[in-house]
Amino acid sequence: MPNETDRKTAFVTGADHGLGFALTQQLVQRGYHVVAGQYAPSESALGAFAAEHPGAVTIVPLDVSDDESVAAAGKAALETRPVIDLVINNAAILGNEKLDNRITDGLAYDTILATISVNAVGPLRVVEALMPGLEKSGSPRLCFISSEAGSVTRSYRPNWYGYCMSKSALNMGISILFNDLRPKGYTLRVYHPGWMQTFMRGEEDSKAKYTPAEAARLALEYFLDIEIDEDRLVMRDDNRDDWPW
Ligand SMILES: NC(=O)c1ccc[n+]([C@@H]2O[C@H](COP(=O)([O-])OP(=O)(O)OC[C@H]3O[C@@H](n4cnc5c(N)ncnc54)[C@H](OP(=O)(O)O)[C@@H]3O)[C@@H](O)[C@H]2O)c1
Repeated sequence: MPNETDRKTAFVTGADHGLGFALTQQLVQRGYHVVAGQYAPSESALGAFAAEHPGAVTIVPLDVSDDESVAAAGKAALETRPVIDLVINNAAILGNEKLDNRITDGLAYDTILATISVNAVGPLRVVEALMPGLEKSGSPRLCFISSEAGSVTRSYRPNWYGYCMSKSALNMGISILFNDLRPKGYTLRVYHPGWMQTFMRGEEDSKAKYTPAEAARLALEYFLDIEIDEDRLVMRDDNRDDWPW
């Protein structure tokens, strides 16, 4: 395990629980210092984990839908860890209000817009706020948890407007970031993590395929270990299969 000054730094959004918390735990086990974005201050597991690993976790309050919150989180992160090597944009919401409604049932437009702000615009806010730290890294890597739901080619749902649209928009935002930052040496990962036993529906989805720990292990193998053609942007899933955009 590296000592504190040798640790690379990862910034994880939505680290309260679900996949983000499991990613935080496993990154620390892999020797990273993690700046963990905490959305719900009442959530105790992240605080307890940080207390068990002194010097390895910095918790910052973070609402990725709020410009000021993201700017403050970025500032706090960079004051503690001036170099950021890895960003995992994980935070997202499903937008549960009228989620299953079809066009004839009436849609919840404020919720659709809020979902797009969190899921698609939030990652851009985060990357912008962390650019001063990323610029200091010798190997900056940007990872994005997207979803099969964002694939236009394989779209099949008659509902879930906000979530599906938000992930398609996220993918386009990542593509533009790739055009801008890949020539400067950045590497990017776009990932569908599979169906997970997490809390997107407001309660634990116990029927799902993966525990958060299993999903985080697979995700990190792809984010950290795999050598890929860095000059071709792909969305890859938990089986390492490419998805059409
Ligand atoms: N679950 C699946 O089967 C599945 C499938 C494909 C893709 N994904 C993607 O996987 C990622 C992780 O999802 P998950 O399943 O782990 O869901 P989750 O358990 O609901 O976790 C999402 C995390 O994001 C946080 N969050 C919510 N709103 C936020 C905001 N405005 N700013 C910052 N953080 C916020 C949540 O905090 P609170 O819980 O405290 O609100 C939570 O910590 C998401 O990008 C999701 O779209 C999930």
